[in-house]
Amino acid sequence: MVYLTRRENFNGAHRLFNAAWSEEQNVAAFGKCANKNWHGHNFELFVTVKGKPESNTGFVINAHDLSKIVKKEVIEKLDHKNFNVDVPELKNTMPTIENVVMLIWRWIEPHLKDCQLHCIKLTETENIYVEYYGEP
Ligand code: NI
Repeated sequence: MVYLTRRENFNGAHRLFNAAWSEEQNVAAFGKCANKNWHGHNFELFVTVKGKPESNTGFVINAHDLSKIVKKEVIEKLDHKNFNVDVPELKNTMPTIENVVMLIWRWIEPHLKDCQLHCIKLTETENIYVEYYGEP
């Protein structure tokens, strides 16, 4: 079994805010991400698939094909968007990288044919990232 990773980038805005809480509680929980006039991040996305190299190509998946899937299913939906208002799937969901990474899995997974999705890694800053392996 070989693991192949494709990296992509996108930019997006969000606000982490729980309407049931006071401003102070929101700032305590979410820090700068609670800023009322939004803010952006430069996200880095790592999509890792696993499989056996196919005998004719030696590929687990053609990395260019994987890139096309990620661009169509993820980047076009999130890049330069405000996650709180522009992404219907995130409506009524706190747009944390935890929730976004699970959504990205659901968008990509049905489009892989000859390999399996192994991991989605999403970085929000140099120092913070999440990894999702499809577990509930
Ligand atoms: Ni943020």
